[in-house]
Amino acid sequence: MSNYHIKHLEEYWQVYRKSVRNPEMFWEEIAEEHFLWRKKWDKVLSWDFSTPEIKWFEGAKLNITENCLDRHLATRADKTAILFEPNDPGEAAQHITYRQLHERVCRMANVLADHGVGKGDRVCIYLPMIPELAVSLLACARLGAVHSVVFAGFSATALSTRINDCDCKLVICSDGSYRGKKTIDLKTIVDEALEDCPGVGTSLVVRRTGGKVSMQEGRDRWMQSLLDAAEPDRPATIVDAEDPLFILYTSGSTGKPKGMVHTTGGYMVYTAYTFKNAFQYREEDVYWCTADIGWITGHSYIVYGPLANGATSVMFEGVPSYPDYGRFWEIVKKHQVSQFYTAPTAIRALAKENIDFVNKHDLSSLKVLGTVGEPINEEAWHWYNENVGKKNSPIIDTWWQTETGGIMISPIPYSTPTIPTFATLPMPGIQPVLMDESGQEIQGNSVEGRLAIKFPWPSIARTIYGNHERYRETYFTAYPGNYFTGDGALRDTVGYYRITGRVDDVIIVSGHNLGTAPIEDAINEHPAVAESAVVGFPHDIKGNALYGYVTLKETGEGRDPENLRREINQLITDRIGPIAKLQKIQFTGGLPKTRSGKIMRRILRKIASKDTANLGDISTLLNPEVVQTIMDESLA
Ligand code: WT7
Repeated sequence: MSNYHIKHLEEYWQVYRKSVRNPEMFWEEIAEEHFLWRKKWDKVLSWDFSTPEIKWFEGAKLNITENCLDRHLATRADKTAILFEPNDPGEAAQHITYRQLHERVCRMANVLADHGVGKGDRVCIYLPMIPELAVSLLACARLGAVHSVVFAGFSATALSTRINDCDCKLVICSDGSYRGKKTIDLKTIVDEALEDCPGVGTSLVVRRTGGKVSMQEGRDRWMQSLLDAAEPDRPATIVDAEDPLFILYTSGSTGKPKGMVHTTGGYMVYTAYTFKNAFQYREEDVYWCTADIGWITGHSYIVYGPLANGATSVMFEGVPSYPDYGRFWEIVKKHQVSQFYTAPTAIRALAKENIDFVNKHDLSSLKVLGTVGEPINEEAWHWYNENVGKKNSPIIDTWWQTETGGIMISPIPYSTPTIPTFATLPMPGIQPVLMDESGQEIQGNSVEGRLAIKFPWPSIARTIYGNHERYRETYFTAYPGNYFTGDGALRDTVGYYRITGRVDDVIIVSGHNLGTAPIEDAINEHPAVAESAVVGFPHDIKGNALYGYVTLKETGEGRDPENLRREINQLITDRIGPIAKLQKIQFTGGLPKTRSGKIMRRILRKIASKDTANLGDISTLLNPEVVQTIMDESLA
């Protein structure tokens, strides 16, 4: 029996049981049968969650682009690999075949190599959702270089911090980007960032908007002329399975962003396998994930997972609201999309608009609907099921993380019966456990606790770049011997999992993972601010929005609060990006603190959520009296 493609529930259970009985054998079979290795591994797995050290397919040699490109040339050369749908519906879509993508990747790899990029070097990619973004990832991988994609909505400071953290020597960017009616000048952001990045010698600039940019002599070069002049072929650099493929930053609850390091062999096997099964992908399908490649969802399920399966992957440059709220559905119809994967926040936003925006498009090509990034509420689930899926396309609520590399808990569509708000069952090879506050595993069903994973899977991040100790501390110390996810979950009567949300100071806003610490740092930079605390509160569309409690220095008192609010949000936009802006800012005389001086965000969270009936015991606070003051002010 091939375990690669699960087709019904009984088969899922058979495969699942086998996968946990002998994970090494399970993954070895899949790796053997479905991928191109230049040399097979000496050992399937070695691991120790205490150090922690995890190695999959040690000793194996490969190049992931040979798996995503070269090996398809024999059978799928003229099949569309990337189907690019531009922001402007009047601009023609581009069907980039496997042959063409192979050539474009080789050309760019040659350009990068000419600029000194080699195996192990870090390259920062700061591009909008245009084909060159996917090409850049693969061009780095072709050379064994490590890509670090920074979402092109991040600010100059966020960009320079990430460039410097992993010592990128080269940046790939564009003149600008299109988002709906807006044109954004990205090159200026890059220029500002590079003032603080002495290690970057070259920036290669892709033309997209044609806007005016300043090119710095000796550093900045136009990408297209270099690509035109480059050789159209380039042999892949063969790397070890455990060589790093990419770094991707994610917020932590404290400190600077964490550069999660993903390695090559295991990541490839796991993303390809989960893509095939979670989406029930078949050769003739057109698959569309609406995420940005700047996030892990795009890395794993726009680029690597789909291409490793020889799939057609749609890449959309624009936004769901342009030119109108029917854009997603127009694209589904236009390209006959079979699998559609998006975020709950997008569903909630579209559900608020006139239903005609959905109904006027024929959506009968759809077979599977996916969601990712945050819990999906029941209302949004039903709206998606009834109006988009016409109760005919199973919804897969896929739970996973930047750190996990691939989908961890998800229904297998057409096999696993779905229940709204439940991510349901673990993917083969994934062994979830629920932990109680004292660190004991909670056995049995109908239980709730903190979600951990007790056995490694091939695409788990191997470290935090430059800070292995932080990696250990963040993920492996809460429940020794297990990977801790930071999420809470419940397991129902039949063993289905429902993710209940973060149990730490990470807040998910519109599906974006934001840490409170960097936002507070930005606020505190304001000269009038003494101290601040940021918490999340429920928001109709975004899932959560940010609420900031700010105490002012004497110099700030008497200043116009509206101006201060604007300045604070501008600082956040400059330091992090507009996604981290505060929805509400409350100026207050003090923040509730423990006797050891820690801000009690739990209480602030309840006040922000207007859930003040049961604040818990506040008598042990250093300053219990401020709680009432804050509540009174918040109502004023
Ligand atoms: C956090 C990870 C994985 C790609 C996008 C986010 C939350 C993710 C779900 C889901 C409930 C979810 C968790 C997780 N999350 N998917 N289906 N149901 N919560 O990646 O930015 O690393 O965020 O997103 O809280 O820990 P990320």
